[in-house]
Amino acid sequence: MKILVTGDRGYIGAVMVPHLIGAGHEVVGLDAGWYDGCDFGRVPEGYEQRTGDCRDATVDDLRGFDAVVHLAAISNDPIGHLNPAATYSVNADAAVHMGRMAKEAGVTRFLFSSSCSLYGAAGDAPVTEDAQFNPVTPYGESKVLAERGLSILADDDFSPCYLRNATAYGSSPRLRADIVVNNLTGTAFTRGKVELQSDGSPWRPLVHVEDISLAFLAALQAPRELVHDEAFNVGRDEDVVQIREIALEVSSRMDAPVTFAADAGPDKRDYRVDFTKIHRVLPAYQPQWSVPLGVEELARDMAVNSLSAEDFEGPRFVRLARIRELTDAGRLGNDLRMLQPLHAEGVRA
Ligand SMILES: NC(=O)c1ccc[n+]([C@@H]2O[C@H](COP(=O)([O-])OP(=O)(O)OC[C@H]3O[C@@H](n4cnc5c(N)ncnc54)[C@H](O)[C@@H]3O)[C@@H](O)[C@H]2O)c1
Repeated sequence: MKILVTGDRGYIGAVMVPHLIGAGHEVVGLDAGWYDGCDFGRVPEGYEQRTGDCRDATVDDLRGFDAVVHLAAISNDPIGHLNPAATYSVNADAAVHMGRMAKEAGVTRFLFSSSCSLYGAAGDAPVTEDAQFNPVTPYGESKVLAERGLSILADDDFSPCYLRNATAYGSSPRLRADIVVNNLTGTAFTRGKVELQSDGSPWRPLVHVEDISLAFLAALQAPRELVHDEAFNVGRDEDVVQIREIALEVSSRMDAPVTFAADAGPDKRDYRVDFTKIHRVLPAYQPQWSVPLGVEELARDMAVNSLSAEDFEGPRFVRLARIRELTDAGRLGNDLRMLQPLHAEGVRA
């Protein structure tokens, strides 16, 4: 297949692209380039990388592709709180715009990178894909709006599919420090302590970034009728854990004590997720990772890259800090459009 991957230069994209290419697919990337240069090891190359904003994509940009993998987004709650209008514009409107352009260009399959955070505060029972949405942040709401908008486009010639990822963890050439397992491991590595930002009681579904890639690959290669207008929770039952369990795991692997941040309180995002459907409908999806393995992998790569506390806590790896840095430097407008592209040449190969 020829696949357009948006957000290919972000945390998940930088891991997924080599998997797609390794499976024999041709990949073209489309990314605004917000995190260019924020590297953690070698970033993927050797495929066409287009620089641009999904909100500006045209039908011509989408012609000739068999599928779109839409990862581009404002990828976390803190940025969503900082700028809700841009979050809706990038995460919801741009996703639906990409869907429309793809459909008009004759692209038949559209995989949307959604999130388990659209379930929000969900009570005690593990949530299945038909559970009610109850998002508690603009980020979660934006994912609900995107799914609804894309679903309206579904017809005989256009099959959107919604992959609702658990919170990712694991190493990537575009590492993120602002997701829980990575954060706790990095703090243990750079500061010698596992610092909890909440009281540790919330449940959180987790999934390794490579296993997310395998789920997308399975959905790309599955017969159309299995994925048409369908949602899948992406993760593993074994990795639905309480934050304090993660902290204890990291603590014992990294020999670092657990501490609580001064303002640690309960966390509203508390939910358990059921992953039966993806295993039943897409048996090709065989997750390979577990949190202990991911912590080991992260610790190894942090040592290889001589990670410092300053880098780990700054714009290189914290998405909100990077957005602020680009905005303060006049490179990113308030609508989160690049004013001064980092790549003047536009397309890199
Ligand atoms: N990482 C997670 O834990 C997680 C969990 C659930 C869902 N997701 C979703 O998966 C996707 C990828 O997440 P990630 O962690 O790789 O995020 P990321 O922030 O690391 O990467 C997002 C990429 O999208 C690009 N981008 C943003 N807006 C754009 C636009 N308008 N046009 C073109 N490019 C744009 C950015 O430059 C960046 O390279 C997102 O949709 C996110 O919401 C992530």
